Amino acid sequence: MSVRMKGRHLLAMKDLTSEELRQVLDTAKAMKLEHYSGRAGRPLAGKVLGMIFQKPSTRTRVSFEAGMAQLGGTAIFLSSNDIQLKRGETVSDTAHVLSRYCDCLMARVFAHQDVVDLAQNSRVSVINGLSDFEHPCQILADLQTILEKKGTLAGLKLAYVGDGNNVCHSLMAGAAMVGMDVAVGTPKGYEPKPDAVDCAKALAKSSGSSVMITTDPARAARGADVIYTDVWASMGQESEHDARVKIFHRYQINAALMKKCKPDVLVMHCLPAHRGEEISEEAIDGPNSVVFDQAENRLHAQKALLVSLM
Ligand code: CP
Ligand code: NVA
Repeated sequence: MSVRMKGRHLLAMKDLTSEELRQVLDTAKAMKLEHYSGRAGRPLAGKVLGMIFQKPSTRTRVSFEAGMAQLGGTAIFLSSNDIQLKRGETVSDTAHVLSRYCDCLMARVFAHQDVVDLAQNSRVSVINGLSDFEHPCQILADLQTILEKKGTLAGLKLAYVGDGNNVCHSLMAGAAMVGMDVAVGTPKGYEPKPDAVDCAKALAKSSGSSVMITTDPARAARGADVIYTDVWASMGQESEHDARVKIFHRYQINAALMKKCKPDVLVMHCLPAHRGEEISEEAIDGPNSVVFDQAENRLHAQKALLVSLM
């Protein structure tokens, strides 16, 4: 039942067609049902996923490792500090070598170009487990969560408020691809990158939806079915944290901003969260929050992706 994408790479949302995205979401739903029914098979028995991490991770690392184990395969965690990348071996040589041992590679990197270089030099599929430009695995889980909670995707309004970062880029593309109207509210100077906005607008045109970018958080949130945020300072931007807290304070998801949304708005966050910064405690821990379902769905959505690629 899973979509065949053997050997393909997932570096950015636009690497999937809208039909493939639909099929991955269908498979993710089936994977979740199988997981809870105890009827899950082991379609990846004997397969190995190599996972390179240049940055910390809780969800991405554990959901991929657990997912591979549940599918009958194995995942190898490779901190970039513990392999020869640390001592200057090139990304391309690393890709050549690891892809002779592993059936799929996943990498969390600083520079997006590193996942591009890995993919260009790998014999096997490369999955972007977060770069400075995109975080596509997160968005597979997010769309699965919205679909579960709302029963549909097309025609819903998704508001993203905060930093126009990697998560925002992938979310704009993924939501536009499935026909959701996207509104992004960021401070001036922290908008999503023009390439990401152009990409999302092109996808929205194909699906009949829209993408709007504003500096007014209330305008972004107005009438939203889903409101989403992420940290104000991403990994690697720690030195900007204090300055960003001052710049972003109007862009917090809290009760006042939620009043602009529909009453049954879903509150989403990719996690890890900073309560009191990008999201108030009452919002993230309140009845509209689905953040832990979102985190759980990383497991199911990535299992669907893994069986499709291997
Ligand atoms: N959302 C997410 O990717 O979390 P981790 O950084 O814990 O992997
Ligand atoms: N934008 C965040 C996402 C963490 C999952 C970061 O890059 O640190």
